[in-house]
Amino acid sequence: MPPALAFEHVSMAFPGVKALDDVSFEVRAGSIHALMGENGAGKSTLLKILSGAYLPSGGSLAIDGHPVAFRGTADALAAGVAVIYQELHLVPEMSVAENLFLGHLPQKFGIVDRRALAEAARRQLELIGEDIDPATKLGQLSLGQRQMVEIAKALTRGARLIAFDEPTSSLSDREVRRLFTIIRELRTRGCAILYVSHRMEEIFALCDRLTILRDGRHVETAELASLTRDTVVQRMVGRKLADIYNYAPRPRADTGLVVENLCGPGLAEPLSFAAAAGEIFGLFGLIGAGRSELLKLLFGATPKTSGRITLAHRELAFNSPRDAIAAGVVLCPEDRKKEGIIPILSVLENTNLSARRRRARAGLFINEAWEQANARERTAQLRVKTPSVLQLIRHLSGGNQQKVILGRWLSEPVNVILLDEPTRGIDVGAKGEIYTIIQDLARRGVCVIVVSSELPEVLGVSDRIAVMRQGKIAAILDRADATEEKLLTLALPLESTLAS
Ligand SMILES: Nc1ncnc2c1ncn2[C@@H]1O[C@H](COP(=O)(O)OP(=O)(O)OP(=O)(O)O)[C@@H](O)[C@H]1O
Ligand SMILES: [Mg+2]
Repeated sequence: MPPALAFEHVSMAFPGVKALDDVSFEVRAGSIHALMGENGAGKSTLLKILSGAYLPSGGSLAIDGHPVAFRGTADALAAGVAVIYQELHLVPEMSVAENLFLGHLPQKFGIVDRRALAEAARRQLELIGEDIDPATKLGQLSLGQRQMVEIAKALTRGARLIAFDEPTSSLSDREVRRLFTIIRELRTRGCAILYVSHRMEEIFALCDRLTILRDGRHVETAELASLTRDTVVQRMVGRKLADIYNYAPRPRADTGLVVENLCGPGLAEPLSFAAAAGEIFGLFGLIGAGRSELLKLLFGATPKTSGRITLAHRELAFNSPRDAIAAGVVLCPEDRKKEGIIPILSVLENTNLSARRRRARAGLFINEAWEQANARERTAQLRVKTPSVLQLIRHLSGGNQQKVILGRWLSEPVNVILLDEPTRGIDVGAKGEIYTIIQDLARRGVCVIVVSSELPEVLGVSDRIAVMRQGKIAAILDRADATEEKLLTLALPLESTLAS
């Protein structure tokens, strides 16, 4: 039987970048096929070719043994291919039902047949076991539910070949489990699944086979059972990784950031804690526990309603990010796509954005030589994959865009750095570099507050860890006392509240 999908000598060139170079491998029906590789390895580009969004500059695709040439996404859909991107392509203002049948709404006498539409939508959602009212506006659903609608939509169009690009990066644990159940169900029905993720645990839990790309080239395709995590990492990054956390204890200053009775949106009760200069203070919790909200309050992005924040005994009385940055308090947000990058500017401009604003406020002109040198230094430090610092940031791969945003804050004189999920979407090799930078910042006396949902990460980088639960700090643990079990137990909602 021919493979469900075959990439045959696929290449893709962009000006100055060879994103894919002679990639060939096969994906079988009834199997979940992982696609892994470092940031910029070419994974998303391959999926865009599969979706018909890009025409490859060389090579071809075959479905069920028949060569295909997609001239657009409609061709791919007609051939039974659906690609589910991280940024979902649904319309938030329309209902779930309308989104499901967008472009082919059931009609009666030339007008949309509402009843037929609702009925068909309900059936389609039932098929994937989702209990969503088809009349709900899509914008009201959680990210996880939207993803389910996207999958239902793919099935509505009879997709037999479904590709996912980092689908779990914004999902809660429960949503991830639902998604996996559905993906396994699709496998049982004989679909071929292509699955891109940086999360090793997911890959080993879910997938049957694995293809590794490095620098746009195919490294290997193998049964997952024949591989260990170490070999996968080694083949992805082309070298052996030592202990990536690079942790070393540091002397802790007796001053730092002190938060007293902080109140504001997202917090359930007045919140107090202190983090020393030179300390790495981890914030662990489940999605929705209030960690990002806390960071936004500390940064002045959401105004606090009461409470006091001091840094080295000086009160930080700001209520805007501008003043926070001026006081050396910076936030690297979780959703860098939305809050971080300016897509139409270059890597250089995105790196220097904040330094530029600071100079402008001080009445100084742009210092071009310094900006050039700074952008070069940051891209080298973070190993950003880009042909030059003049490249538009939107042409960089997802993970590399994130590195640029981190570089922006490393260009600034900071006292407190607030990092919200700093390694989300970043490959294993680059994660190690980010941990090293975090350690360096702390050694230089910066107070680092890191939000992370990944247990090994929060345990690996932090000196102390605060566990947040339902808008409160449930406990603060020393590194030596913290274990995965303890953190999880503290993070889970209390039984009594679950029952009510
Ligand atoms: N439209 C474009 N113009 C120029 N270069 C591009 C374009 N799209 C992608 N690239 C480049 O192609 C390479 C592969 O990018 P791609 O997005 O496929 O990587 P990826 O493996 O998905 O990485 P990540 O894990 O960071 O998402 C990168 O070097 C990227 O900068
Ligand atoms: Mg990508």
